[in-house]
Amino acid sequence: MTTIAVFNQKGGVGKTTTSLNLIAALARREFAPLGIDLDPQAHLTLASGIKGLASSETIYAFYAEGKPLSHLMRELPSGNGAHIIPAHMELFKIDSLYGRNPNITSQLKRGLMDELLPDASVPVIIDCSPMLGVLSLNAVFASNRLLIPVSADYLSMQGVNRLDAALKVLEKPLGKPIQRRIVMTRFDSRRRLSYQIYDQLHEHYGKDLCDTRIFESVSLAESPVYGKDVFSFLPHSQGAKDYNSLTEELLACGFFDPECSW
Ligand SMILES: Nc1ncnc2c1ncn2[C@@H]1O[C@H](COP(=O)(O)OP(=O)(O)OP(=O)(O)O)[C@@H](O)[C@H]1O
Ligand SMILES: [Mg+2]
Repeated sequence: MTTIAVFNQKGGVGKTTTSLNLIAALARREFAPLGIDLDPQAHLTLASGIKGLASSETIYAFYAEGKPLSHLMRELPSGNGAHIIPAHMELFKIDSLYGRNPNITSQLKRGLMDELLPDASVPVIIDCSPMLGVLSLNAVFASNRLLIPVSADYLSMQGVNRLDAALKVLEKPLGKPIQRRIVMTRFDSRRRLSYQIYDQLHEHYGKDLCDTRIFESVSLAESPVYGKDVFSFLPHSQGAKDYNSLTEELLACGFFDPECSW
C-alpha cells in the first residue's frame, strides 16, 4: 500500500487542496483511495463536504478511545468511490495528552498495518497540519512517500529547506530514506518570483521536483467553499487540468508503487 503524507510546515501552501484533488483524481482512475485528515483544522473534512461530526466519529477517537480506523472511514459525499477518515478540532489535544508517550509516533502506522495495509491496492493520502508535532510525525512514520507542496513565495521556499533538514534527522529513527516529491503550487505566471522560485527548487532538489506546476486559479480557491473537489466543481478548469497532470506524473514515476524507488 502506498501511503503519502502531504506535508509542509508552512501554512497555506496548498496541502489540503493537493490532498483533496489527488484523492479525487485517483478515485476517477478507480483506485478507491482513502484520505486521512490529520489536521485539527479539519479542512480536508470540510472541503470534502462533511460537517457537524462528533469527535467520536473522527480520527480523534482512534487516538483518544482506541477506535479502529475502519470504524471511522466513511464514503465521500461526491460518491466517487473514495473514503475519508475525517478530523475534528479536538485533535489539537493529542500533542499535550500523548506527546510524552514514546509509542505515539507510530500509532497511525500500527493502526493502518493492523487493519488496512493488507489491501495493497488502496492508496492512502494523509493531509497534515502545518506543524511538525505528534500528528505530523504520525503521518510521516506511517507513510512511504512524502509529497511537499511549496507555494510560489519566498517563505514557502524557506519552509521546504527547513523541512528537508528535519527529514534528514527523522530518517535515522525511521531507518530508511523518506521518498519525497516537491510540487510547486499557486504558480502565478504574471509574477517573476514564481519562475525564480521554481528555478531555485529545481537547482536544489532536481528530480525530486515535479514538472507539473499548480497554477493559481479561481476554480481551486472556490471549489472547497462548495464542499467539492475541482473535478466535480469545474471539470474543464485550469485547476482540474493541473491536478490531472500531477496525478499522471506521479503515476508515471512510480510514486504510487511502494516497491519502486528512484
Ligand atoms: N492553486 C491555487 N489557486 C488558488 N487558490 C488556492 C490554490 N491552492 C490553494 N488555494 C487556496 O489557498 C488557501 C490555502 O490552501 P490550503 O488550505 O490547501 O493550504 P494548506 O497548506 O492546507 O493550509 P494549512 O497549512 O492551513 O493546512 C485555501 O483557501 C485554498 O482554497
Ligand atoms: Mg490544510
